[in-house]
Amino acid sequence: MKNSELRLVSLEEAARIVGKKPHNIRDYIQRGRISKYDTNGKKIQKARNGELRVSIAELESFLDLVKKGLEKHHHSGLDIGLGFHDISETERTKHVHRLHPYLGKFIPQLVEWFLKSFFRENDLILDPFMGSGTTLVQSNELGINSIGIDISEFNCLISRVKTQKYDIEKVTKEINDIESRITKFSKYLTRSEDVDLSLFPEEKMRDLEKSLLNECNSEYLRKWFARRTLLEMLYYKRLIREYHFRDLLKVLLSRSIRSSRLIPHYDLATPKSPLPPGKEYWCRKHNRMCKPIEECLVKIHTYSIDTIRRIREFDRLRTDKEITIIQDDSRQVDLEMYLHGRKIDGIFTSPPYVGQIDYHEQHIYAYELFGLKRNDSLEIGQKKKGKSKSAQEDYIRNISESLINLRKYLKEDSKIFIVANDRYRLYQEIAKRSNLRIEREFHRAVTKRTEQGDNPYEETILFLTK
Ligand SMILES: C[S@@+](CC[C@H](N)C(=O)[O-])C[C@H]1O[C@@H](n2cnc3c(N)ncnc32)[C@H](O)[C@@H]1O
Repeated sequence: MKNSELRLVSLEEAARIVGKKPHNIRDYIQRGRISKYDTNGKKIQKARNGELRVSIAELESFLDLVKKGLEKHHHSGLDIGLGFHDISETERTKHVHRLHPYLGKFIPQLVEWFLKSFFRENDLILDPFMGSGTTLVQSNELGINSIGIDISEFNCLISRVKTQKYDIEKVTKEINDIESRITKFSKYLTRSEDVDLSLFPEEKMRDLEKSLLNECNSEYLRKWFARRTLLEMLYYKRLIREYHFRDLLKVLLSRSIRSSRLIPHYDLATPKSPLPPGKEYWCRKHNRMCKPIEECLVKIHTYSIDTIRRIREFDRLRTDKEITIIQDDSRQVDLEMYLHGRKIDGIFTSPPYVGQIDYHEQHIYAYELFGLKRNDSLEIGQKKKGKSKSAQEDYIRNISESLINLRKYLKEDSKIFIVANDRYRLYQEIAKRSNLRIEREFHRAVTKRTEQGDNPYEETILFLTK
C-alpha cells in the first residue's frame, strides 16, 4: 500500500477518528492487531518517542472484522485486568511516586494488586531490586512491612525520601525558605530591577560566582548546563547543608536540574548530547520551535510546590509499618542483622533486564552534582554490556545468584513475584538454578509507561515458590 492509502496518523488522532481512546489503539498494536509505522511510513519494530504512527486504513479494517465477530481484541493468555488501561496518568504517578523521575519503575497499581491478592497486613515483603521504592511505598500503604535493596546510591536516596515520615509543617517551612533564598540569589545574578543592587555590588557577585564555580569540578555539569543554571544549582546545593531535610532537598534539586539541562524538551529520559545555549530546535513535544532552558529557578519553584503536595498526600495514607532500605548487592547482601531472626513472607520485585537500562547513568547529573559514588560495575544486565548470548548467560547467573543468596531468609511457604519483560525466556533456567518452582505466569500488556517511549510491549509476572 502507498503511504497516502495507509493514512498515517498519531495515536491520539487515530483514537479521535475511530471514536476510541489512545490506550485502545496502543492495545491493538501491542497485540499485533495493527502495525507500527514511523513518520515516513516505514513499518518499524520499536518506536522512538513521538514518531509512532498508525494506519487509519488498517485500523478501520481491523475494527470492521471485530464488529463482524471475525477478530478479537485480546489473545487468550493475557490477564486483561492487569493492563490498568483506565488508570489515569495522575493515579499512576500518585503522591510520592513522582517525587523524582526514574526510568524503569513499575506502576503502583500493579504492586497494589499483587500485594492485596497474596499478602496480609503485618507481613514482611522484600524487594531486592528496589529501584525508586515503589514496592516499599505501596507495602506501607497496605500495612505491610518492607525491606528494599539496591546497588545504586541515588536510587536508595530517592527511596528513602519517598518513604520517610515527615513533620509536614517543618518540611514546608524549609522548602519555602530555601526557595526564597535561591530566588533572591537569582535576581542578583541576573541583575534584576526589583532588587536593590547596591546591597550586592557587582564585585561581590563576581566573587560569589567564582567561589561557586571553584566548588564544581565536574566536566559533565559544565557541559550540560547553561552558566546561570549551573550557578543557581551550585548555590542551592551550598545552602542545603543549613537545613534538616537535606535528602529531600537534594531530590528536589536533582529533579529540577534534570529538567534544566541543555537538551530538547522531548528527550529528558535519554538525551545523547547537549545543545548549545540559545540554539533553536523543532520540539516534538510542543510542536513548535523551542530553545533549551538556561535556568533552574523556574523548575525549583514548580517542584517545591509539587513536593510539598505529594508528601502531604502520602502522609495521609501511610501507616506506621517498618521500612528498611539497604544499599548493597543482592547477590551477597547479608540480611541477618536487619531481620533479627524473622523470616520474609515474600518477594515482589522487577529486576533489571538484559541490556535495557543503565541505572546509574540515567541519573548522572545527580551523581555529578552531589559527588555520589557509582557502582556501575555491580549493576546486573547493564545496557552498555548489550544483549548478546554471553550477556544473557551472565544475566541468568547473576539473577540466580541473588535468588540463591536470598532464599535462606524466606519462609518455606513464601511467595515470590518477579516482573520481567522476559523476551529471551531466561526465567525457566533462572528458576531451575535457584531451585524455585514457577507456579504461574501472569501476562500483561504494557501500553503506557511514563518516560519509556511510545513502544507498547508485553510483561510477564512470574509467581514462584520454594
Ligand atoms: C527495574 S529496576 C527496579 C524498579 C522498581 N521496581 C521501581 O518501581 O522503581 C532494577 C533495579 O535493580 C538495581 N540493581 C541492579 N543490579 C543490582 C544488584 N546487583 N543488586 C541490587 N540492585 C541492583 C538497579 O540499580 C535498579 O534500580
